[in-house]
Amino acid sequence: MVLSSENQPILVAGAGSGIGKSVLENLNVLGQNALGISRTGLVRKLGEKFEFGSNFQCNLSRPSEILDFVSSLQKQFPILAGIYFTFGSGLFRPVGQISLEEWNAHFVLNLNSLFLLTKEILPLMRPGSFLCYLSSTAGYQGFPESTAYCASRHAIAGFAKALREELKPKGIRVITVYPGAVYTDIWKGREGFEQDDMIPVNDFGKWLATLSTLPDAVYPDEIRLLPRKGIL
Ligand SMILES: NC(=O)c1ccc[n+]([C@@H]2O[C@H](COP(=O)([O-])OP(=O)(O)OC[C@H]3O[C@@H](n4cnc5c(N)ncnc54)[C@H](OP(=O)(O)O)[C@@H]3O)[C@@H](O)[C@H]2O)c1
Repeated sequence: MVLSSENQPILVAGAGSGIGKSVLENLNVLGQNALGISRTGLVRKLGEKFEFGSNFQCNLSRPSEILDFVSSLQKQFPILAGIYFTFGSGLFRPVGQISLEEWNAHFVLNLNSLFLLTKEILPLMRPGSFLCYLSSTAGYQGFPESTAYCASRHAIAGFAKALREELKPKGIRVITVYPGAVYTDIWKGREGFEQDDMIPVNDFGKWLATLSTLPDAVYPDEIRLLPRKGIL
């Protein structure tokens, strides 16, 4: 993938913390023009332009905020070089202890928002541009106390597989990354796991950012990436 030009930036959806924050930082290091969105991003004043390197406010659980964001972005940048979908949340509890409200909220953010942002932003994509989704080891394997998380990660993988076939004739690349444990807030408070066994978040972000620099003829589709110990 060629370096994004001034007019064709890369979007990191979910750049407030963890993997997305690191990807945005590392895209900047690579000299890519990139900007992020998340709940804790900068609030833009009316008519204010998006600046590269910054993370802007958008709550992706709210459909109206997705629509408003894409509409504003499109006015400044009609074409995007690529998008990283790095937003999401964990829900790690025995199935009997998950309320329907929690289940629904998990799917609104992790799946419905992913669908809506993809749908709305597709008109900004061109041949050679890319959509990069984060599934997980939980996207191809089951873990205890992870029904919601495994279900949403499997669903993302299926969504991306189908979208890849749909977009092949248009030359738009769909990449799914299945990361093993990367140490971020998502792991905090979970017993039985050691930070030292996980991939440091900046190492992961550094690698993920390089996907944006691959030559056009290289088309990664599904990438599994694990820490040294394998699946924890
Ligand atoms: N860490 C791992 O080991 C691992 C492994 C496999 C897959 N993943 C996946 O990678 C993704 C990122 O996880 P992470 O580990 O980096 O966790 P994290 O640090 O908790 O990051 C979550 C990201 O999502 C954003 N976000 C959360 N709710 C949002 C909302 N309503 N609207 C917009 N943005 C929202 C957060 O920013 P704000 O708080 O500013 O909104 C933050 O940027 C998740 O989907 C996770 O399932 C992680």
